Amino acid sequence: MERILIVDDERSMIEFLEYMLDKEGYQVTGCLDPEGALALLREGEGFDLVISDIKMPGMDGLELLKAARNRDPDTPFIFITAYASSETAIEALKLGAFDYITKPFEIEKLKSLVMHALTARDLKRQVQVLEGETSSSNEMVGTSPPMLEIYKLIGTIASTDSTVLIMGESGTGKELVARAIHRASPRRDRAFVSINCSAFPETLLESELFGYVKGAFTGAAGTKKGLFEAATNGTMFLDEIGEMSPAMQVKLLRALQEKKIRRVGGTEEIQIDVRVIAATNRELNKEIEAGHFREDLYYRLAVIPISIPPLRDRKSDILPLVRHFISKYNRKLDRSVRGITEDALRCFEQYRWPGNVRELENVIERGVTLETSEFLQKGRLPDHIQRGGFFRDSAAMPFFTAELGLDLEAFLRDLERQIIEQALSLADGNQTRAAEILRLSYRSLRHRIETLGIKKGLPGELAPSPEH
Ligand SMILES: Nc1ncnc2c1ncn2[C@@H]1O[C@H](COP(=O)(O)OP(=O)(O)OP(=O)(O)O)[C@@H](O)[C@H]1O
Ligand SMILES: [Mg+2]
Repeated sequence: MERILIVDDERSMIEFLEYMLDKEGYQVTGCLDPEGALALLREGEGFDLVISDIKMPGMDGLELLKAARNRDPDTPFIFITAYASSETAIEALKLGAFDYITKPFEIEKLKSLVMHALTARDLKRQVQVLEGETSSSNEMVGTSPPMLEIYKLIGTIASTDSTVLIMGESGTGKELVARAIHRASPRRDRAFVSINCSAFPETLLESELFGYVKGAFTGAAGTKKGLFEAATNGTMFLDEIGEMSPAMQVKLLRALQEKKIRRVGGTEEIQIDVRVIAATNRELNKEIEAGHFREDLYYRLAVIPISIPPLRDRKSDILPLVRHFISKYNRKLDRSVRGITEDALRCFEQYRWPGNVRELENVIERGVTLETSEFLQKGRLPDHIQRGGFFRDSAAMPFFTAELGLDLEAFLRDLERQIIEQALSLADGNQTRAAEILRLSYRSLRHRIETLGIKKGLPGELAPSPEH
């Protein structure tokens, strides 16, 4: 018989759950204080599942989970929480809770969660024998300050229906964030419908989103529901919203404002209840200035804006992501790489990651595929990453837009001058040493100093190095 521990500071809740779960054939133990519960768990009483309140005096549910995990990484936790604390619910999932349920809840839903948790735990035990670690592909990894802010924000807004606009460079995890919002929301048992707005020509996008009626255009043989209808009571993810044509932008704005759509060729107004999350890797304020994106639509979408910083601006996330992807590809490719060498990690930290987390994931996949030793070696990395890239941070990249343009020659000359000055200063003005640092011949360095007009008078400049 499976044993369930219930922790709640409200006696009535314990009694209710004891009664309901006992009827299902579980052996239930109630505990009014979390410290007592922890003691029971530590004694190795062999519980198969813990159902716990989050807010409790003394130790809260999350602390209980953390403390219990030290001893027993396997027993699944289900949390019961009020809407107001959904940010803690997200935190709970991050800490490895199986799931949470919000008050008031239907007992059927809790029963099904309990069943799922117990099944998942059995599966997990089997899998763990094989590889020692599991993690879901939806899991968000990273504990840099901006990521923690994002988790918190997801928790706070998940229970609302506010439109969210997720911005970030390609591969920063925009879709992952969108899915996390959906999963943390009351809509999570309904559809998450995702569409890439750049993948469709305008007219097709309209009929995809809004559907069409019979005869709306050649080939419309019957009436078809659009994605907005398919996403009823669920979440709609509009990816690459920045690519949407002006005409479609107007139609989308109307749909969002009126919460109604009209199928292509139809007259009937259909009420929609959909939470919209949009994403873009373009800088929409610039698109607005350039007249490519409607300002009113922007404000309608960006009720809650979320910006995911590029990976190079949150370097502390690199190591946890590397671990996460190594274990993912060990599992997928049936490998047993145990980690990464210091050298390789240093290259990762120096590299600019223009393709962000997706690029990192691809590099790890390739590395795990090729690696024959226990640790991922620097030599397994693509050349450009081994070289580490030259820029220490993103500020080194010049700012330019299509309108502004960039004088590449002047920029490079300026950069060259700065680099040579820096090398001279590192070499205390010794030009031979500076040439070595820059992997140039002495002659070539002299030539550059001359043509760039780099100032004389740097230390050492007046006293040529002995060899020359
Ligand atoms: N914080 C993260 N933790 C774990 N995996 C991540 C994280 N961020 C991104 N990924 C992974 O990186 C890949 C790219 O993420 P995602 O598709 O969400 O990015 P995106 O911002 O939507 O990219 P694009 O703009 O190219 O569509 C996915 O495989 C995703 O699982
Ligand atoms: Mg995406």
